[in-house]
Amino acid sequence: MPDPDAPRIRTALPADGEALGLIDRLTWSPLHAVQPEPQPPYEPFFDEGHSPGDHLVAELDGRVVGYVRIGFPTPLACNAHVRQIQGLAVADEARGRGVGRALVRAAVDESRRRGARRITLRVLGHNTPARKLYEAEGFEVEGVLPQEFLIGGEYVDDVFMGRPVQPPGPTT
Ligand SMILES: CC(C)(COP(=O)(O)OP(=O)(O)OC[C@H]1O[C@@H](n2cnc3c(N)ncnc32)[C@H](O)[C@@H]1OP(=O)(O)O)[C@@H](O)C(=O)NCCC(=O)NCCS
Repeated sequence: MPDPDAPRIRTALPADGEALGLIDRLTWSPLHAVQPEPQPPYEPFFDEGHSPGDHLVAELDGRVVGYVRIGFPTPLACNAHVRQIQGLAVADEARGRGVGRALVRAAVDESRRRGARRITLRVLGHNTPARKLYEAEGFEVEGVLPQEFLIGGEYVDDVFMGRPVQPPGPTT
């Protein structure tokens, strides 16, 4: 029987834009953000390059509490076998309940379903919660740009992580 406390993961809908924009603004922190804190008037969450279909959302008790954004690392055809996690956030009040883990797992599954061979991401070196989560879900550090960002007066590493999404094999 499904766990009634487990988050429900689904593809985002246009109507989720407002809730996701709010989560993005309320969770803004120099721990994970490289953009300045958003100020009104706020940009729409979905835009030409970021459609609802590029996002999975997590619901707890019927309420949207988090999302993951899945994109391509580059627009190049020769790079199209790779997907990238380009955003992940869980509302403060829903943290520590497995929502982030469920979103990352769903992003891996969705990438596999779309035929990807690998999934990658970039995470700030000082973002311990996210790094622990990705490591626990099979991502490994594949490269580091030391002191790539100056955030709040501190130089912070840009850490590249990745993992395969297909079972190992010569042609998969
Ligand atoms: C990172 C984030 C998505 C985790 O979401 P969450 O729903 O609280 O995570 P979960 O409850 O699924 O935790 C799964 C695992 O992540 C790790 N983790 C989560 N929070 C952690 C913390 N505060 N410290 C250390 N590890 C943590 C643990 O390994 C945890 O497994 P465990 O519970 O068995 O120890 C959430 O903290 C968040 O939204 N942070 C701000 C945005 C962000 O940093 N995004 C990533 C950008 S690259």
